[in-house]
Amino acid sequence: MTRRSVVVGHGAYLPEKILTNNDISKFIDTSDEWIAGRTGIRERHIAAEGELTSHLATKAAEQALARAGMTGADIDVIVLGTTTPDETFPAAATKVQMAIGADHAFAFDVQAACSGFVYALAMADNFIRLGQARNALVIGAETFSRLLDWNDRTTCVLFGDGAGAVVLRAEEGNGTSDDRGILSTHLHSDGRQHDLLYADGGPSLNQQAGVVRMQGQEVFRHAVTRLSGVLHEALEANGLAPEDVDWLVPHQANRRILESTAKKLGLPIEKMVVTVDKHANTSAASIPLALAQAVDDGRIKRGDLVLMEAMGAGFTWAAAAVRW
Ligand code: UT7
Repeated sequence: MTRRSVVVGHGAYLPEKILTNNDISKFIDTSDEWIAGRTGIRERHIAAEGELTSHLATKAAEQALARAGMTGADIDVIVLGTTTPDETFPAAATKVQMAIGADHAFAFDVQAACSGFVYALAMADNFIRLGQARNALVIGAETFSRLLDWNDRTTCVLFGDGAGAVVLRAEEGNGTSDDRGILSTHLHSDGRQHDLLYADGGPSLNQQAGVVRMQGQEVFRHAVTRLSGVLHEALEANGLAPEDVDWLVPHQANRRILESTAKKLGLPIEKMVVTVDKHANTSAASIPLALAQAVDDGRIKRGDLVLMEAMGAGFTWAAAAVRW
């Protein structure tokens, strides 16, 4: 028997305010045609004043708990992937813990930029496999709009705010790829690529949060090779082939990256969940937001093989193979 972390609930939250490409073109030199053509993005959600990452995370978490038929009291660990916590410390996860009344849970944030959700999922899965937790809440939440230089058209058009969450429950499986739950997770980092994507501030550097700085074309080039590489790794680890994949749920950075990743894997575009048009890049929130959408509209069903992948600053990149 093998202990598996089975997804038993999912949730999502997007702030009310929508900012379209046309809205942005009113205050900087850009256009819907350029943004949509180069990235597939048409609009993004922006958190209201006073609406913080932990608020978004809590709303997504509450929905996921309700769907799992659980309350905060059932949760043993909360892992929150975010690059935009409310405060430098404590972890935003502890605010979620308080808000949902997860009184006996331990809670912490994971900072792996856009790969944050897959990293968080891996942490929670390992706690469950080791028997240190039975029920885990995994969240990806960001107010990335607060980390942008709104005068820099090469970055500010790309990102948005939002949150998504899943509840994991320990179940016994047979140890095969037919088991429900997380089959494997694959995490990588390469600190040598720091200068290609970073925020130019931090508590130790200059006591500020900074704004995003990115060499877009270089990031694009790395993303395409590393993402298809880590997806092959996930398939091989489970003795699976691309034909076995029901859904690819990628981090949503750029539609052209998504399409070329699917193509490199030999996966039809129809098997890929795309939300980048409506959400833009919500960093660690993008995968759980896309998951929630595809489960809610009936695409992802119990028993489906779902592959997730992400790449972000660090560089970090990661994949997870999950039997839904
Ligand atoms: O989440 C993980 C991290 N992020 C990513 O994965 C993003 C990866 N990179 C990308 O998605 C793309 O590289 C971008 C969308 C960021 C940029 O697309 P690109 O096709 O690589 O464009 P570029 O940077 O080569 O810029 C082409 C032109 C430039 O003008 P010149 O020098 O050719 O005259 C830019 O100044 O487009 C210009 N440009 C814009 N024009 C209108 C850059 N941003 C804009 C803009 N509106 N917003």
